[in-house]
Amino acid sequence: MDLGIKGRRAIVTGGSSGIGFETARVFLEEGVRVVITGRKEEKLKKACDDLAKRTGGEVHGVVADMTKESDIVKMVAFAKQKLGSVDILVNNAGQMYSGRFAAFDDKEMQTQLDTKLFGFMRAIRAVYPMMKAQKWGRIVNTIGGAGKEPDPYMFGSGMTNSALLNLTKSLSTEFGEDNVLVNAICPGWVATDLWVRNTEGMKKEFGVASEAEARKVAAKKNALGRMGKPEELANATVFLCSERASYITGVSLNTDGGRLKGLW
Ligand SMILES: NC(=O)c1ccc[n+]([C@@H]2O[C@H](COP(=O)([O-])OP(=O)(O)OC[C@H]3O[C@@H](n4cnc5c(N)ncnc54)[C@H](OP(=O)(O)O)[C@@H]3O)[C@@H](O)[C@H]2O)c1
Repeated sequence: MDLGIKGRRAIVTGGSSGIGFETARVFLEEGVRVVITGRKEEKLKKACDDLAKRTGGEVHGVVADMTKESDIVKMVAFAKQKLGSVDILVNNAGQMYSGRFAAFDDKEMQTQLDTKLFGFMRAIRAVYPMMKAQKWGRIVNTIGGAGKEPDPYMFGSGMTNSALLNLTKSLSTEFGEDNVLVNAICPGWVATDLWVRNTEGMKKEFGVASEAEARKVAAKKNALGRMGKPEELANATVFLCSERASYITGVSLNTDGGRLKGLW
């Protein structure tokens, strides 16, 4: 299927690894011109080189910490300079903040909110005027299932994610008249560096001794009995950004192998 977005211009935040990297790859294969971001310069450069080599597409990297508004402004100015404008924003950069209430830390929660809630919102604020003027735009927020189904261990991420679901729906209503579509994907457990970084906590939470066992427990929570691959999340994201999704806005697509058991 031709996704109809050849030549479109996209920012993928957190495109230097995991879900964001795969999203950038799929965009490039579709002929989209892409800017990716991350905090670590070397890692970002390596990702750009790798993506360009694998796809032959046009990809640029800019270091931007999503907790800093000045970096977000710099990121969008960079994209305008390299691409001329922005048609697609994938708000993906982020971390997981896990742990039960007894271990809750205000400072860490603030960082989580700064990265995902304020980071996503500020990026939208910076690109929206261009999309509104063009009467075409796609925004996809990478959120997470804990925003829909609260889990005591995912308390911090869950609160952030619920707020992001509200933001997605609210803005989809407001931006609809400008043909700017705002959607979200909600990953379950995806095998990325993020998961590896959180293994110690998962082992304790699941009561198992090794990372392999923790993965097995996580996989069993899904209907499909396995963890997600980053490219599976990327495929859903790129579809929502495509011309083929022209009548879809305000949805949060569970891309989780059947992890959530509720009706939304
Ligand atoms: N993997 C899962 O199971 C899972 C589940 C639910 C939701 N998610 C969400 O999916 C998104 C992608 O996660 P992933 O699993 O692909 O993780 P990942 O492989 O660790 O990639 C995260 C990306 O975000 C960037 N990043 C992190 N914090 C940043 C910040 N403050 N400013 C700018 N860039 C930042 C990283 O670059 P640097 O390393 O240079 O900072 C990297 O490019 C995240 O928003 C995460 O919360 C993931």
